[in-house]
Amino acid sequence: MKIGPIDIHQPLCLAPMEDVSDTPFRRICKEQGADLLFTEFANCEALVRNVKQTMGKIQVHDGERPIAIQLYGSGEESLEQAAGIVQEAGADWIDINCGCWVKKIATRGDGAGLLRDLNKFQAVVESVIRGTDLPVTVKTRLGWDDNSFVILEVAQMLEALGVAALTVHCRTRKQGYTGKADWSWLPRIKEVSAIPLIANGDIATPEDAKTVFDMGCDGVMIGRGAIHSPWIFRYTRHFLDTGEHLPEPTLKDRINMCIRHLTDSVEFRGERRGVPSFRRHYAGYLKGVRNIANLRKDLMQFLEVAPIIERLHRFLEEYDADEAA
Ligand SMILES: Cc1cc2nc3c(=O)[nH]c(=O)nc-3n(C[C@H](O)[C@H](O)[C@H](O)COP(=O)(O)O)c2cc1C
Repeated sequence: MKIGPIDIHQPLCLAPMEDVSDTPFRRICKEQGADLLFTEFANCEALVRNVKQTMGKIQVHDGERPIAIQLYGSGEESLEQAAGIVQEAGADWIDINCGCWVKKIATRGDGAGLLRDLNKFQAVVESVIRGTDLPVTVKTRLGWDDNSFVILEVAQMLEALGVAALTVHCRTRKQGYTGKADWSWLPRIKEVSAIPLIANGDIATPEDAKTVFDMGCDGVMIGRGAIHSPWIFRYTRHFLDTGEHLPEPTLKDRINMCIRHLTDSVEFRGERRGVPSFRRHYAGYLKGVRNIANLRKDLMQFLEVAPIIERLHRFLEEYDADEAA
């Protein structure tokens, strides 16, 4: 699959995820085989106003390439200007978020709100294209609700505009995260449009990735599956190449990765901000591990790194002793 000069066969992509897909997490996923990275979304108006926190979201580093910076908004002048800003920031390409379902964003016509007004959707994409020389991609959903599956029309429109690739989260805006992603739309999109297609939604195992590649998709994007297991990229590539599974990461692997991720996050944002913001990651690393209620309570209270590392090591020792008994 090609995005401008980038050419990767069946790329495995890390999804843009607000407050998750930051530099420390992107680096881990890249080491674990993610081929294409996306930043979390950045609001075009805030970029134009040079808001410090939003400018922080578009910082990318050479070890993360190839990487897209994701923009959202619907103000055409701001989008055009913001496209120039993220190009300056060093994006390899620009992705436009046309799929965010969150009420305050979608109901004001940004994100998935664009699925209710395809003329506006087109104007938004044209504005970004005007503002940059970089390739532009789009990430969206199937439609606003199940009375308005507009994705086939959208794919054709984006192909005509010269958009380099389309990621589809196979749910409607109304669904949010409920129900199951409906991958049956993917081959139908391929039938009506030649735009490179990245499948997204509920791809959480190597078999899921193989299923959507077998349906004709050009790439796969993984979000929550990577929060639970950043190893998923390497495991999926191995499965696609050999048809065989690598052994699951052990609890020790999970705890070591959690500590490494925590340490990187603290190095990136400092202890005062890095420790509390890391709390959202424990559930992923400890998913499926039994008897973690006390551990989780402690982890949510610590404000410094050292006691967290000590507590995680102690949990592992006790767990191993329990297993051996
Ligand atoms: C915590 C979180 C934050 C997200 N933030 C963004 C975002 O900034 N931009 C975006 O396009 N999608 C965002 N998403 C949606 C994901 O990119 C993805 O489309 C969705 O989670 C479905 O994929 P999955 O089933 O692999 O998780 C977010 C999802 C999660 C769980």
